[in-house]
Amino acid sequence: LNGAAILIVGAGFYGATLAERIATKLGRRVLVIDKRPHIGGNAYTEPDPTTGVEIHRYGPHLFHTSNEEVWRYLRNFTDFSAYRHRAFSTHRDQVYPLPINLATICQFFGRRFSPDEARAMIAEQSSELGDRLPSNLEEKAISLVGRRLYEAFIKGYTAKQWQTDPRELPAQVITRLPVRYNFEDGYFNDRFQGQPLDGYTAIFEKMLAHDLIETRLGVDFFDIRNLLPEGVPVVYTGPIDRYFDYAEGELGWRTIDIELEIMDTPDYQGTSIMNYADEAVPYTRVLEFRHFNPERQHTSGKTLIGREFSRFARRVDEPYYPIDTRRDQATYGRYVARMGREKNIHFGGRLGTYRYLDMHQAIGSALKAFETVFEPYFEGRLDSV
Ligand code: FDA
Repeated sequence: LNGAAILIVGAGFYGATLAERIATKLGRRVLVIDKRPHIGGNAYTEPDPTTGVEIHRYGPHLFHTSNEEVWRYLRNFTDFSAYRHRAFSTHRDQVYPLPINLATICQFFGRRFSPDEARAMIAEQSSELGDRLPSNLEEKAISLVGRRLYEAFIKGYTAKQWQTDPRELPAQVITRLPVRYNFEDGYFNDRFQGQPLDGYTAIFEKMLAHDLIETRLGVDFFDIRNLLPEGVPVVYTGPIDRYFDYAEGELGWRTIDIELEIMDTPDYQGTSIMNYADEAVPYTRVLEFRHFNPERQHTSGKTLIGREFSRFARRVDEPYYPIDTRRDQATYGRYVARMGREKNIHFGGRLGTYRYLDMHQAIGSALKAFETVFEPYFEGRLDSV
């Protein structure tokens, strides 16, 4: 351990935030390991050698938060661009703005609607089920936005995302589908938004640059676990079912395959993310990375795109989105009971808690854990993490 007072497994936002806080605020030595050959977890980005464009290796990352503490904290390590995300969907060779807003509705139904007229029309179209409760995802979506918008923008996309007919998916997969009865087309409503000016990886380089932090890459916790001295506190941000050797069963995740291609044009689609709503198109979205950084000069004359394909994750795949069926929830409940019986180990982050966390939530929960667990522990007010 090289004199470290704590071992942190995972150099993503959860692990890096805790490492930085423990080193900076408490003056303790920290060892961070990650089994990947790089820091940054899923937010890792790197320049593409041909185009110079910054690739988001594990899917597109857009920073947004309304949490002022997280925003202030992150500003210690980066400045942000003025990027505001806008999303679009291609359906039958037309491009519509997302989330569904008044512009989408006017374009789709081919006439002008006032907010009140649009609201009345959607209320009428979504009343198809009458008093009956929705019994599957399709019925739930129809009860929220009506059949026509469902069939255009949700049906094919959802079927591709889940590789399952929406009539076979449980209604509770969606709780709400935002429809905006105005022309606001910014994707996120958050107060603070932007992309890190020097990329995501540079944030982690700064967070982990502290003299008291040592980072070792390409090290799997399960290869060194038995070598750890007794009683050393550990923060574990890997998959929770793997930690317990799948003793309570496997938790379900979806993953994404991204097929990269360099296109011989400076601009392929004019925007960073284009959804493809129709089932006939096999991918769910096309990413064009240069558009995440419109403030940068891209001079190669080429552009890098990525086609996203969604599927269920096997054990060897990268777990991306928790599926969180009732069965998964019961399995996770059994792991929580096991976690409670472990000594001197703290489980955190999206994999360690089987929750989809945005970056600001991963950072926010690490800041909270620092205050409620690690500060008291290192100041002697708590016996164990
Ligand atoms: P993260 O997964 O980043 O880090 C965990 C680390 O632990 C990994 O580096 C892993 O290698 C390591 N590890 C696991 N097991 C190990 C072991 N046995 N030994 C050693 N190391 C081990 N958020 C957002 O705010 N805006 C966005 O646009 C997006 N977009 C997005 C797209 C996609 C496709 C995904 C999957 C996720 C997003 N996110 C996002 C979410 C974002 O990626 C997420 O909030 C952070 O990655 C969470 O950080 P963690 O540290 O919890 O996990």
